[in-house]
Amino acid sequence: MRKLPAWYYDEFVQNGTDYTDEEEILNYDRNMDKIRDIREEMETMLRLIDLQPEEQVLEIGCGTGEFSIELSNYCREITALDISPGMIEFARDKARSRKRDNIKFINGGFLTFDPAEKQFNVIVTQLVLHHLPDFWKLIALKNINSMLKPDGKLYLRDVIYSSDIDDFDAFFSQTLHNISEEAKDIMKDDYVHHIKEEFSTFDWVMEGLLEKAGFRIEESHYQDDFMASYLCRKENKQKMSV
Ligand SMILES: C[S@@+](CC[C@H](N)C(=O)[O-])C[C@H]1O[C@@H](n2cnc3c(N)ncnc32)[C@H](O)[C@@H]1O
Repeated sequence: MRKLPAWYYDEFVQNGTDYTDEEEILNYDRNMDKIRDIREEMETMLRLIDLQPEEQVLEIGCGTGEFSIELSNYCREITALDISPGMIEFARDKARSRKRDNIKFINGGFLTFDPAEKQFNVIVTQLVLHHLPDFWKLIALKNINSMLKPDGKLYLRDVIYSSDIDDFDAFFSQTLHNISEEAKDIMKDDYVHHIKEEFSTFDWVMEGLLEKAGFRIEESHYQDDFMASYLCRKENKQKMSV
């Protein structure tokens, strides 16, 4: 891990949901299945990143490892990071039980991972960047940019609010109502924490951050005014200055 200055943000401190909590880890996959269509998310990610067998991939915030394990079928090697040691251990055990041996699990995150000169063809991160305040999101995206090979791809999916929302009271009440219907209240508290304590931002802020960090947004998809995904390409600075 890189030596960091004293003013650096401590990304290992959990804000909102505590992903070091054993119960949270053990129930994570079951809870996600209630509110997400994981198969469809995987198919969308795979279609957009179009992985090639020789490619090296980095996933940041792998959680229980479901996506890294699936992606490992389509590329040479995956490095999977998470700041929660419990998540890393859980994901490693899951990969072993599914006989995947091309995934390196590392306890680290956006701001602290040191790739030691290694560069990746593709970096994916989903439902993780909102753990950082906006200033640190830009630092994280610049780090991602520097870890990508020329023309490398970033797939980012996260809770990102639409700038079309006018009435936040009505919007969040309706969203919380929908989530408790779908997940029988289990996830409602998590989403309350999310809105109150985590750092989901607006679509226009995220788009600006991606561009400032040196990415070209090739595709963007928005869902239900609070979920966005982006396929981005590392801008080739030499090409830009021609
Ligand atoms: C909502 S879960 C998402 C897990 C998985 N990507 C998914 O789509 O289900 C967020 C994960 O990000 C991790 N995390 C939080 N902040 C992080 C950071 N700065 N760097 C890397 N991982 C982080 C948490 O420990 C947790 O496992």
